[in-house]
Amino acid sequence: MDRNELYIKGPQRMQGELLIQGSKNAALPILAATILGEGIFILHHCPKISDVEHMLELLVDAGCRAYWEGHMLIVDTRELRNYRVKGDGAGKMRSTVTLLGSILGRMHQVEIPYPGGCTIGKRPIDLHLRGLEQLGAVFEHQEHTLVGKAAILHGASVYLDFPSVGATENVLLAAVLAEGSTVIHGAAMEPEIVELASFLRKMGAKILGEGTPVISIEGVKRLHAAEYIVPSDRIVAGTYLFGALMTRGEVRLLHVPLAHLGNLPGVLEQMGAVVEAKEDWIYVRMDHQCRPIPYLVTAPFPGFPTDLQSALMAALSTASGISFIEEKIFEARFQVVEELQKMGASITSEESFALIDGDARLRGAKVEAKELRGGAALIMAALAAEGETCIQGMEYVCRGYEDINEDLKKLGIKKRCGEQGCCPKTAFTEETHVRTGNNEEVS
Ligand code: UD1
Repeated sequence: MDRNELYIKGPQRMQGELLIQGSKNAALPILAATILGEGIFILHHCPKISDVEHMLELLVDAGCRAYWEGHMLIVDTRELRNYRVKGDGAGKMRSTVTLLGSILGRMHQVEIPYPGGCTIGKRPIDLHLRGLEQLGAVFEHQEHTLVGKAAILHGASVYLDFPSVGATENVLLAAVLAEGSTVIHGAAMEPEIVELASFLRKMGAKILGEGTPVISIEGVKRLHAAEYIVPSDRIVAGTYLFGALMTRGEVRLLHVPLAHLGNLPGVLEQMGAVVEAKEDWIYVRMDHQCRPIPYLVTAPFPGFPTDLQSALMAALSTASGISFIEEKIFEARFQVVEELQKMGASITSEESFALIDGDARLRGAKVEAKELRGGAALIMAALAAEGETCIQGMEYVCRGYEDINEDLKKLGIKKRCGEQGCCPKTAFTEETHVRTGNNEEVS
Protein backbone atom coordinates (compact mmCIF):
# COMPACT_ATOMS: atom_id res chain seq x y z
CA MET A 1 0.00 0.00 0.00
CA ASP A 2 1.37 3.43 -0.98
CA ARG A 3 2.21 5.41 2.15
CA ASN A 4 0.90 8.55 0.45
CA GLU A 5 -2.58 7.06 0.16
CA LEU A 6 -5.28 6.71 2.77
CA TYR A 7 -8.24 4.37 2.41
CA ILE A 8 -11.47 5.02 4.28
CA LYS A 9 -14.60 2.96 4.22
CA GLY A 10 -17.72 4.96 4.95
CA PRO A 11 -20.14 5.93 6.16
CA GLN A 12 -18.94 6.15 9.72
CA ARG A 13 -19.94 8.22 12.69
CA MET A 14 -17.35 10.33 14.47
CA GLN A 15 -17.62 9.95 18.19
CA GLY A 16 -15.10 10.48 20.93
CA GLU A 17 -12.74 12.76 22.72
CA LEU A 18 -9.43 14.04 21.41
CA LEU A 19 -6.56 16.16 22.59
CA ILE A 20 -5.75 18.46 19.69
CA GLN A 21 -2.16 18.65 18.41
CA GLY A 22 -0.05 21.80 18.54
CA SER A 23 -0.65 24.46 15.93
CA LYS A 24 1.38 24.50 12.72
CA ASN A 25 0.84 28.18 12.04
CA ALA A 26 1.82 29.13 15.60
CA ALA A 27 4.83 26.80 15.82
CA LEU A 28 6.49 27.86 12.55
CA PRO A 29 6.92 31.60 13.27
CA ILE A 30 7.87 30.74 16.87
CA LEU A 31 10.63 28.52 15.50
CA ALA A 32 11.73 31.36 13.23
CA ALA A 33 11.78 33.62 16.31
CA THR A 34 14.21 31.37 18.18
CA ILE A 35 16.89 32.67 15.81
CA LEU A 36 16.59 36.10 17.45
CA GLY A 37 17.89 34.91 20.82
CA GLU A 38 21.01 33.07 21.84
CA GLY A 39 20.39 30.08 24.07
CA ILE A 40 18.39 26.90 24.51
CA PHE A 41 14.68 27.13 23.79
CA ILE A 42 12.08 24.64 24.95
CA LEU A 43 8.81 24.35 23.08
CA HIS A 44 6.11 22.11 24.53
CA HIS A 45 3.19 20.62 22.59
CA CYS A 46 5.02 21.20 19.33
CA PRO A 47 3.38 19.41 16.38
CA LYS A 48 5.44 16.66 14.73
CA ILE A 49 4.44 17.55 11.20
CA SER A 50 6.48 17.72 8.01
CA ASP A 51 6.43 21.54 7.90
CA VAL A 52 8.04 21.67 11.36
CA GLU A 53 10.58 19.06 10.22
CA HIS A 54 11.43 21.23 7.22
CA MET A 55 11.80 24.32 9.38
CA LEU A 56 14.14 22.38 11.68
CA GLU A 57 16.25 21.37 8.68
CA LEU A 58 16.67 25.06 7.90
CA LEU A 59 17.52 26.00 11.48
CA VAL A 60 20.07 23.20 11.67
CA ASP A 61 21.49 24.30 8.34
CA ALA A 62 21.94 27.76 9.85
CA GLY A 63 23.92 26.27 12.75
CA CYS A 64 21.24 25.51 15.37
CA ARG A 65 20.78 22.16 17.09
CA ALA A 66 17.34 20.64 17.54
CA TYR A 67 16.03 17.59 19.41
CA TRP A 68 12.67 16.13 20.25
CA GLU A 69 11.71 14.64 23.58
CA GLY A 70 8.20 13.42 22.93
CA HIS A 71 6.34 16.55 21.89
CA MET A 72 8.87 18.81 23.56
CA LEU A 73 11.21 20.40 21.06
CA ILE A 74 14.57 21.73 22.17
CA VAL A 75 16.30 24.26 19.94
CA ASP A 76 19.81 25.46 20.69
CA THR A 77 20.62 28.63 18.77
CA ARG A 78 23.99 29.41 20.37
CA GLU A 79 26.05 28.28 17.38
CA LEU A 80 23.96 30.02 14.72
CA ARG A 81 26.19 31.66 12.17
CA ASN A 82 24.81 31.05 8.71
CA TYR A 83 22.55 33.68 7.20
CA ARG A 84 22.13 31.70 3.97
CA VAL A 85 19.06 29.45 4.07
CA LYS A 86 19.49 26.52 1.73
CA GLY A 87 18.19 23.14 2.78
CA ASP A 88 15.66 21.05 0.92
CA GLY A 89 12.85 22.29 3.15
CA ALA A 90 13.16 25.89 2.08
CA GLY A 91 11.34 25.68 -1.22
CA LYS A 92 8.65 23.39 0.22
CA MET A 93 6.80 25.69 2.55
CA ARG A 94 5.57 29.19 2.68
CA SER A 95 6.64 29.97 6.22
CA THR A 96 10.33 29.92 5.21
CA VAL A 97 9.61 33.55 4.46
CA THR A 98 9.37 34.38 8.18
CA LEU A 99 13.08 33.60 8.39
CA LEU A 100 13.64 36.86 6.50
CA GLY A 101 12.68 38.99 9.50
CA SER A 102 14.38 36.85 12.12
CA ILE A 103 17.70 36.26 10.32
CA LEU A 104 17.87 39.95 9.37
CA GLY A 105 17.16 40.85 12.99
CA ARG A 106 19.98 38.70 14.34
CA MET A 107 22.56 38.79 11.52
CA HIS A 108 21.67 41.87 9.47
CA GLN A 109 21.83 39.90 6.25
CA VAL A 110 19.85 37.03 4.81
CA GLU A 111 19.58 34.83 1.75
CA ILE A 112 16.57 32.60 1.20
CA PRO A 113 15.18 30.71 -1.76
CA TYR A 114 11.80 32.02 -2.87
CA PRO A 115 9.29 30.40 -0.50
CA GLY A 116 7.08 27.46 -1.43
CA GLY A 117 3.98 26.12 0.29
CA CYS A 118 0.63 24.88 -0.93
CA THR A 119 -0.48 25.85 -4.41
CA ILE A 120 -3.43 27.91 -3.25
CA GLY A 121 -2.80 31.07 -5.21
CA LYS A 122 -0.22 33.67 -6.15
CA ARG A 123 1.00 34.24 -2.59
CA PRO A 124 3.20 37.28 -3.25
CA ILE A 125 5.55 38.66 -0.58
CA ASP A 126 5.45 42.35 -1.53
CA LEU A 127 3.96 43.37 1.84
CA HIS A 128 6.69 41.48 3.70
CA LEU A 129 9.44 43.17 1.70
CA ARG A 130 7.94 46.66 1.86
CA GLY A 131 7.52 46.36 5.62
CA LEU A 132 11.11 45.19 6.11
CA GLU A 133 12.40 47.90 3.77
CA GLN A 134 10.74 50.50 5.96
CA LEU A 135 12.86 49.17 8.83
CA GLY A 136 16.01 49.71 6.75
CA ALA A 137 16.42 46.44 4.83
CA VAL A 138 17.45 46.43 1.17
CA PHE A 139 16.60 43.45 -1.05
CA GLU A 140 18.13 42.14 -4.23
CA HIS A 141 16.19 39.63 -6.29
CA GLN A 142 18.38 36.93 -7.81
CA GLU A 143 17.09 34.14 -10.03
CA HIS A 144 15.99 31.72 -7.30
CA THR A 145 17.18 33.58 -4.25
CA LEU A 146 16.19 36.65 -2.31
CA VAL A 147 19.12 38.50 -0.76
CA GLY A 148 18.51 41.02 2.03
CA LYS A 149 20.82 43.34 3.95
CA ALA A 150 20.31 45.86 6.72
CA ALA A 151 23.37 47.61 8.11
CA ILE A 152 21.07 49.06 10.75
CA LEU A 153 17.48 48.05 11.42
CA HIS A 154 15.54 51.01 12.76
CA GLY A 155 12.01 51.48 14.01
CA ALA A 156 9.38 52.88 11.62
CA SER A 157 5.67 53.26 11.04
CA VAL A 158 4.66 50.38 8.80
CA TYR A 159 1.30 50.43 7.02
CA LEU A 160 0.08 47.10 5.67
CA ASP A 161 -2.47 47.45 2.84
CA PHE A 162 -3.89 44.06 3.82
CA PRO A 163 -3.64 42.38 7.25
CA SER A 164 -1.26 39.71 5.97
CA VAL A 165 -0.38 37.16 8.65
CA GLY A 166 3.09 36.48 7.29
CA ALA A 167 3.95 40.14 6.68
CA THR A 168 2.85 41.07 10.21
CA GLU A 169 5.03 38.25 11.57
CA ASN A 170 8.04 39.31 9.53
CA VAL A 171 7.87 42.97 10.54
CA LEU A 172 7.34 41.97 14.17
CA LEU A 173 10.36 39.64 14.03
CA ALA A 174 12.61 42.29 12.52
CA ALA A 175 11.37 45.11 14.76
CA VAL A 176 12.02 43.52 18.15
CA LEU A 177 15.80 43.99 17.79
CA ALA A 178 15.62 47.20 15.70
CA GLU A 179 16.74 50.53 17.09
CA GLY A 180 13.77 52.58 18.33
CA SER A 181 10.00 52.18 18.02
CA THR A 182 7.97 50.49 15.32
CA VAL A 183 4.23 50.70 14.88
CA ILE A 184 2.51 48.23 12.54
CA HIS A 185 -0.77 49.68 11.27
CA GLY A 186 -3.26 47.32 9.66
CA ALA A 187 -1.66 44.31 11.38
CA ALA A 188 -3.20 40.84 11.18
CA MET A 189 -5.16 39.91 14.31
CA GLU A 190 -4.89 36.11 13.99
CA PRO A 191 -4.28 34.13 17.21
CA GLU A 192 -0.91 33.06 15.79
CA ILE A 193 0.22 36.72 15.88
CA VAL A 194 -0.80 36.93 19.53
CA GLU A 195 1.15 33.73 20.26
CA LEU A 196 4.24 34.97 18.44
CA ALA A 197 4.12 38.26 20.36
CA SER A 198 3.76 36.43 23.71
CA PHE A 199 6.68 34.19 22.83
CA LEU A 200 8.84 37.17 21.83
CA ARG A 201 7.85 38.90 25.07
CA LYS A 202 9.07 35.83 26.98
CA MET A 203 12.37 36.33 25.16
CA GLY A 204 12.52 39.89 26.46
CA ALA A 205 10.86 41.83 23.62
CA LYS A 206 8.68 44.88 24.25
CA ILE A 207 5.42 44.58 22.33
CA LEU A 208 1.96 46.04 22.85
CA GLY A 209 -1.31 45.73 20.97
CA GLU A 210 -1.07 42.24 19.42
CA GLY A 211 -4.53 40.96 18.55
CA THR A 212 -5.53 44.48 17.42
CA PRO A 213 -4.79 46.22 14.09
CA VAL A 214 -2.08 48.38 15.67
CA ILE A 215 0.99 46.72 17.19
CA SER A 216 3.71 48.79 18.86
CA ILE A 217 7.23 47.46 19.34
CA GLU A 218 10.07 49.06 21.24
CA GLY A 219 13.33 47.58 20.04
CA VAL A 220 15.66 46.01 22.63
CA LYS A 221 19.39 45.25 22.41
CA ARG A 222 19.28 41.53 23.16
CA LEU A 223 16.78 38.71 23.44
CA HIS A 224 17.26 35.53 25.42
CA ALA A 225 15.99 31.96 25.22
CA ALA A 226 12.52 31.04 26.48
CA GLU A 227 10.24 28.13 27.24
CA TYR A 228 6.76 28.11 25.69
CA ILE A 229 3.66 25.97 25.21
CA VAL A 230 2.49 25.96 21.60
CA PRO A 231 -1.31 26.32 21.52
CA SER A 232 -3.47 23.67 19.92
CA ASP A 233 -4.27 23.92 16.26
CA ARG A 234 -7.57 25.69 15.65
CA ILE A 235 -7.70 24.47 12.04
CA VAL A 236 -7.16 20.81 12.95
CA ALA A 237 -9.89 21.22 15.58
CA GLY A 238 -12.21 22.85 13.03
CA THR A 239 -11.60 20.07 10.49
CA TYR A 240 -12.76 17.41 12.96
CA LEU A 241 -15.74 19.52 14.04
CA PHE A 242 -16.95 19.61 10.42
CA GLY A 243 -16.27 15.86 10.25
CA ALA A 244 -18.58 15.41 13.24
CA LEU A 245 -21.28 17.51 11.55
CA MET A 246 -21.15 15.51 8.34
CA THR A 247 -21.30 12.14 10.12
CA ARG A 248 -23.98 13.14 12.65
CA GLY A 249 -21.35 12.58 15.26
CA GLU A 250 -20.52 13.75 18.73
CA VAL A 251 -17.04 14.93 19.66
CA ARG A 252 -15.31 16.72 22.50
CA LEU A 253 -12.03 18.32 21.54
CA LEU A 254 -9.66 19.17 24.36
CA HIS A 255 -6.95 21.78 24.73
CA VAL A 256 -8.62 24.02 22.13
CA PRO A 257 -8.50 27.71 23.08
CA LEU A 258 -12.05 28.95 22.50
CA ALA A 259 -10.71 32.44 21.84
CA HIS A 260 -8.87 31.05 18.78
CA LEU A 261 -12.03 29.74 17.12
CA GLY A 262 -13.46 33.12 16.11
CA ASN A 263 -16.91 32.73 14.58
CA LEU A 264 -16.59 28.96 14.05
CA PRO A 265 -18.93 27.90 16.91
CA GLY A 266 -21.58 30.27 15.49
CA VAL A 267 -21.25 28.71 12.01
CA LEU A 268 -21.59 25.20 13.47
CA GLU A 269 -24.76 26.27 15.29
CA GLN A 270 -26.10 27.86 12.13
CA MET A 271 -25.68 24.46 10.47
CA GLY A 272 -27.77 22.88 13.22
CA ALA A 273 -25.19 21.49 15.63
CA VAL A 274 -25.43 21.49 19.41
CA VAL A 275 -22.33 23.35 20.58
CA GLU A 276 -20.95 23.70 24.09
CA ALA A 277 -17.62 25.31 24.75
CA LYS A 278 -15.55 26.52 27.66
CA GLU A 279 -12.18 28.23 27.77
CA ASP A 280 -10.19 25.29 26.42
CA TRP A 281 -12.56 22.65 25.09
CA ILE A 282 -15.44 22.38 22.65
CA TYR A 283 -18.21 19.78 22.40
CA VAL A 284 -20.24 19.40 19.23
CA ARG A 285 -23.15 17.05 18.50
CA MET A 286 -25.15 16.74 15.32
CA ASP A 287 -28.46 14.89 15.44
CA HIS A 288 -29.75 15.50 11.94
CA GLN A 289 -28.71 16.54 8.43
CA CYS A 290 -26.66 19.78 8.24
CA ARG A 291 -28.52 22.95 7.36
CA PRO A 292 -27.17 24.99 4.44
CA ILE A 293 -25.57 28.43 4.82
CA PRO A 294 -27.03 31.01 2.41
CA TYR A 295 -23.78 33.02 2.22
CA LEU A 296 -20.41 32.72 3.90
CA VAL A 297 -17.29 34.69 3.09
CA THR A 298 -13.77 33.87 4.26
CA ALA A 299 -12.07 36.75 6.01
CA PRO A 300 -9.13 37.65 8.22
CA PHE A 301 -9.57 36.75 11.90
CA PRO A 302 -12.06 36.85 13.59
CA GLY A 303 -13.87 36.09 10.32
CA PHE A 304 -14.28 32.58 8.94
CA PRO A 305 -10.78 31.19 8.19
CA THR A 306 -9.83 30.37 4.62
CA ASP A 307 -8.04 27.31 6.01
CA LEU A 308 -11.41 25.78 6.97
CA GLN A 309 -13.24 26.71 3.81
CA SER A 310 -12.68 23.31 2.14
CA ALA A 311 -13.88 21.36 5.20
CA LEU A 312 -16.95 23.61 5.35
CA MET A 313 -17.57 23.03 1.64
CA ALA A 314 -17.40 19.26 2.15
CA ALA A 315 -19.92 19.52 5.00
CA LEU A 316 -22.24 21.79 3.02
CA SER A 317 -22.29 19.31 0.15
CA THR A 318 -24.29 17.06 2.48
CA ALA A 319 -26.57 19.87 3.78
CA SER A 320 -30.30 20.10 3.12
CA GLY A 321 -30.24 22.90 0.57
CA ILE A 322 -28.18 25.44 -1.33
CA SER A 323 -25.17 27.23 0.14
CA PHE A 324 -22.94 29.91 -1.26
CA ILE A 325 -19.28 30.51 -0.35
CA GLU A 326 -17.09 33.42 -1.34
CA GLU A 327 -13.32 32.85 -0.95
CA LYS A 328 -11.72 36.21 -0.35
CA ILE A 329 -8.22 35.32 0.86
CA PHE A 330 -6.62 32.90 -1.62
CA GLU A 331 -7.76 32.73 -5.24
CA ALA A 332 -6.91 29.05 -5.85
CA ARG A 333 -8.65 27.57 -2.85
CA PHE A 334 -11.32 25.71 -4.83
CA GLN A 335 -9.08 22.89 -6.08
CA VAL A 336 -10.99 20.51 -3.86
CA VAL A 337 -14.21 21.09 -5.85
CA GLU A 338 -13.27 18.70 -8.66
CA GLU A 339 -12.36 16.00 -6.14
CA LEU A 340 -15.59 16.41 -4.16
CA GLN A 341 -17.48 16.20 -7.45
CA LYS A 342 -15.87 12.79 -8.06
CA MET A 343 -17.51 11.75 -4.78
CA GLY A 344 -20.92 12.93 -6.00
CA ALA A 345 -21.00 16.45 -4.58
CA SER A 346 -22.92 19.03 -6.58
CA ILE A 347 -20.74 22.14 -6.56
CA THR A 348 -20.32 24.87 -9.15
CA SER A 349 -17.46 27.29 -8.79
CA GLU A 350 -16.36 30.32 -10.69
CA GLU A 351 -13.50 32.57 -9.71
CA SER A 352 -13.92 33.16 -5.98
CA PHE A 353 -17.52 31.93 -5.71
CA ALA A 354 -18.87 28.45 -5.10
CA LEU A 355 -22.47 27.32 -5.10
CA ILE A 356 -23.09 24.10 -3.27
CA ASP A 357 -26.32 22.28 -3.96
CA GLY A 358 -26.49 20.10 -0.87
CA ASP A 359 -28.29 16.86 -0.20
CA ALA A 360 -25.65 14.90 -2.13
CA ARG A 361 -25.24 11.24 -1.32
CA LEU A 362 -21.49 11.15 -1.25
CA ARG A 363 -19.95 7.93 -2.54
CA GLY A 364 -16.47 6.52 -2.23
CA ALA A 365 -14.05 7.36 -5.05
CA LYS A 366 -10.37 7.72 -5.85
CA VAL A 367 -9.53 11.34 -5.10
CA GLU A 368 -6.41 13.43 -4.84
CA ALA A 369 -5.30 15.86 -2.18
CA LYS A 370 -3.79 18.77 -4.08
CA GLU A 371 -3.02 20.88 -1.05
CA LEU A 372 -3.10 20.56 2.72
CA ARG A 373 -6.55 21.83 3.74
CA GLY A 374 -8.37 20.44 0.70
CA GLY A 375 -6.82 17.04 1.47
CA ALA A 376 -8.14 17.08 5.03
CA ALA A 377 -11.59 18.04 3.72
CA LEU A 378 -11.58 15.01 1.42
CA ILE A 379 -10.88 12.77 4.40
CA MET A 380 -13.89 14.22 6.24
CA ALA A 381 -16.02 13.71 3.11
CA ALA A 382 -14.82 10.10 2.90
CA LEU A 383 -16.18 9.44 6.40
CA ALA A 384 -19.64 10.50 5.25
CA ALA A 385 -19.48 8.73 1.87
CA GLU A 386 -20.98 5.37 1.04
CA GLY A 387 -18.22 2.88 0.19
CA GLU A 388 -14.45 3.10 -0.01
CA THR A 389 -12.53 6.26 -0.76
CA CYS A 390 -8.84 6.32 -1.63
CA ILE A 391 -7.23 9.68 -0.89
CA GLN A 392 -3.97 10.15 -2.74
CA GLY A 393 -1.44 12.89 -2.05
CA MET A 394 -1.44 12.37 1.73
CA GLU A 395 1.98 14.02 1.89
CA TYR A 396 0.15 17.36 1.67
CA VAL A 397 -2.04 16.49 4.65
CA CYS A 398 1.07 15.54 6.65
CA ARG A 399 2.29 19.11 6.30
CA GLY A 400 -0.20 20.09 8.97
CA TYR A 401 -1.84 17.00 10.52
CA GLU A 402 0.46 15.06 12.79
CA ASP A 403 -1.26 11.68 12.61
CA ILE A 404 -4.73 11.90 11.15
CA ASN A 405 -5.02 8.08 11.24
CA GLU A 406 -4.51 8.03 14.99
CA ASP A 407 -6.80 11.02 15.54
CA LEU A 408 -9.59 9.34 13.60
CA LYS A 409 -9.11 6.15 15.59
CA LYS A 410 -9.57 8.11 18.81
CA LEU A 411 -12.68 9.64 17.30
CA GLY A 412 -14.22 6.20 16.81
CA ILE A 413 -13.39 5.62 13.14
CA LYS A 414 -12.85 1.87 12.85
CA LYS A 415 -13.23 0.51 9.39
CA ARG A 416 -10.17 2.08 7.81
CA CYS A 417 -8.23 -0.02 5.33
CA GLY A 418 -5.04 2.06 5.28
CA GLU A 419 -3.44 1.64 8.68
CA GLN A 420 -0.08 3.16 7.85
CA GLY A 421 0.85 6.53 9.25
CA CYS A 422 1.94 8.74 6.39
CA CYS A 423 4.00 11.36 8.13
CA PRO A 424 7.76 11.19 7.89
CA LYS A 425 9.68 10.14 10.95
CA THR A 426 11.70 12.91 12.54
CA ALA A 427 15.30 13.35 11.52
CA PHE A 428 15.89 15.08 14.84
CA THR A 429 15.96 12.08 17.11
CA GLU A 430 15.03 12.26 20.74
CA GLU A 431 18.05 12.69 22.94
CA THR A 432 17.17 12.42 26.57
CA HIS A 433 20.51 13.79 27.69
CA VAL A 434 19.86 17.27 26.30
CA ARG A 435 18.79 19.62 29.04
CA THR A 436 18.58 23.38 29.23
CA GLY A 437 21.90 23.75 31.04
CA ASN A 438 21.20 27.46 31.07
CA ASN A 439 18.20 27.74 33.29
CA GLU A 440 18.36 31.40 34.11
CA GLU A 441 17.85 32.18 30.42
CA VAL A 442 14.78 29.99 30.18
CA SER A 443 11.94 32.10 31.51
C1 UD1 B 1 -1.03 32.35 6.71
C2 UD1 B 1 -1.20 30.89 7.07
C3 UD1 B 1 -2.20 30.24 6.15
C4 UD1 B 1 -3.50 31.01 6.16
C5 UD1 B 1 -3.25 32.49 5.87
C6 UD1 B 1 -4.51 33.34 6.01
C7 UD1 B 1 0.96 30.26 7.96
C8 UD1 B 1 2.19 29.44 7.78
N1 UD1 B 1 0.07 30.22 6.94
O1 UD1 B 1 -0.50 32.37 5.37
O2 UD1 B 1 -2.43 28.91 6.61
O3 UD1 B 1 -4.34 30.49 5.15
O4 UD1 B 1 -2.27 33.00 6.78
O5 UD1 B 1 -5.07 33.19 7.27
O6 UD1 B 1 0.74 30.88 8.99
N2 UD1 B 1 -0.62 38.85 0.29
C9 UD1 B 1 -0.13 39.77 -0.60
N3 UD1 B 1 1.15 40.22 -0.42
C10 UD1 B 1 1.94 39.79 0.62
C11 UD1 B 1 1.40 38.84 1.53
C12 UD1 B 1 0.12 38.38 1.34
O7 UD1 B 1 -0.81 40.18 -1.52
O8 UD1 B 1 3.07 40.23 0.73
C13 UD1 B 1 -2.00 38.32 0.08
C14 UD1 B 1 -1.98 36.82 -0.24
O9 UD1 B 1 -1.77 36.58 -1.61
C15 UD1 B 1 -3.34 36.40 0.22
C16 UD1 B 1 -3.61 37.30 1.42
O10 UD1 B 1 -2.70 38.39 1.31
O11 UD1 B 1 -4.30 36.69 -0.78
C17 UD1 B 1 -3.43 36.60 2.77
O12 UD1 B 1 -2.12 36.16 2.89
P1 UD1 B 1 -1.37 36.06 4.29
O13 UD1 B 1 -2.28 36.55 5.37
O14 UD1 B 1 -0.05 36.71 4.14
O15 UD1 B 1 -1.20 34.51 4.43
P2 UD1 B 1 0.11 33.72 4.78
O16 UD1 B 1 0.86 34.42 5.86
O17 UD1 B 1 0.80 33.33 3.54
